Amino acid sequence: MSDRPHEYHGPERVFSGVQPSGALHLGNYLGALKKFVTLQDRHDCLFCIVDLHAITVWQDPGDLADQTRHIAAAYLASGVDPGKAIIYAQSRVSAHTELAWYLNCVARIGWLNRMTQFRDKAGRNSERMSVGLYDYPVLQAADILAFKATHVPVGEDQKQHLELSRDIAAKFNNDFNVPGFFPLPEPLISGPGARIMSLRDGSGKMSKSDPSDMSRINLTDDADTIARKFRKAKTDPGVIPENPEALGDRPELANLIGIYAALADMSDQAVLEQYAGEGFGVFKPALAELAVEKLRPVTELMGRYLADPAEIDRILLCGADSADEIATPILAEVCDIIGFWKG
Ligand code: TYM
Repeated sequence: MSDRPHEYHGPERVFSGVQPSGALHLGNYLGALKKFVTLQDRHDCLFCIVDLHAITVWQDPGDLADQTRHIAAAYLASGVDPGKAIIYAQSRVSAHTELAWYLNCVARIGWLNRMTQFRDKAGRNSERMSVGLYDYPVLQAADILAFKATHVPVGEDQKQHLELSRDIAAKFNNDFNVPGFFPLPEPLISGPGARIMSLRDGSGKMSKSDPSDMSRINLTDDADTIARKFRKAKTDPGVIPENPEALGDRPELANLIGIYAALADMSDQAVLEQYAGEGFGVFKPALAELAVEKLRPVTELMGRYLADPAEIDRILLCGADSADEIATPILAEVCDIIGFWKG
């Protein structure tokens, strides 16, 4: 993996999370889930379903548990193996909320004021947003640091939150004079799929919250829907160029080439070489066919897992016990470092 986190000499550990707040899309799959699967073979991994983050905006209490199972099913169907990686729901492991409070007292308000994702989500209504939405990145830091995770596979949109996690870890180590206690977690962002854009606008990311369903490919879309969405995806009148430099001012095309490359495990360059000179009438159906070929097994397996919620629950309970076992001694050390009364 990348550089060793500064001064930290503990074991390497991978942590990441996905919110159970709506159907997963191709961006989540390529930016996160697909990476989880490649990491689990060689590293200790925890893959969390971050339901505490989801409730920073309203979630219907009648749906939340099923949405959590839905993400668990997506992890499993993508190839995350509970025999290799820990899969669990955030709300079942109290270390997250406990450490978030301690880190709230380390993080600075000015740091949170700079978080662009809060500004994007809140828009002009920030006064009416929950305190949780504002504090969201501190909980994210707690997720990672409760396990002393060293590496965090995420999409590009999480880069700023990861930088904040590093700042919080460094300030804790510094304030309490415990150099290297927390690692400074490294984001694992690079590679194709890190930034999948909307199919309707190459300058905005593919997102669950986009009001237009045509802007994204959902993991639950059927073959016809996937083909229709790619057919209608915004493009320009040109043909496919030969080299990647020509993609610079063609964001919609760059996005489609990137999606193809990420799905096929190819470089952008290789995709361009294969389709150079072709128009979209050829490229879009080929992309749709590839997407269906790669996503159909995931969608089908998800369906099978969801048909047996008791098995998902068993996996999540077992994962929560394993996560708890790792976090409990770390939290005990944190309490000692802060100097709480022990009785
Ligand atoms: P969430 O649930 O919004 O997204 C889950 C993962 O999908 C990635 N992603 C994308 N990747 C590429 N292109 C896109 N268009 C795209 N959209 C989403 C996200 O980067 C993410 O990796 N804050 C996190 C959840 C979280 C977390 C954590 C992640 C909570 N605690 C600790 C890592 C470590 C989030 O909102 O993910």
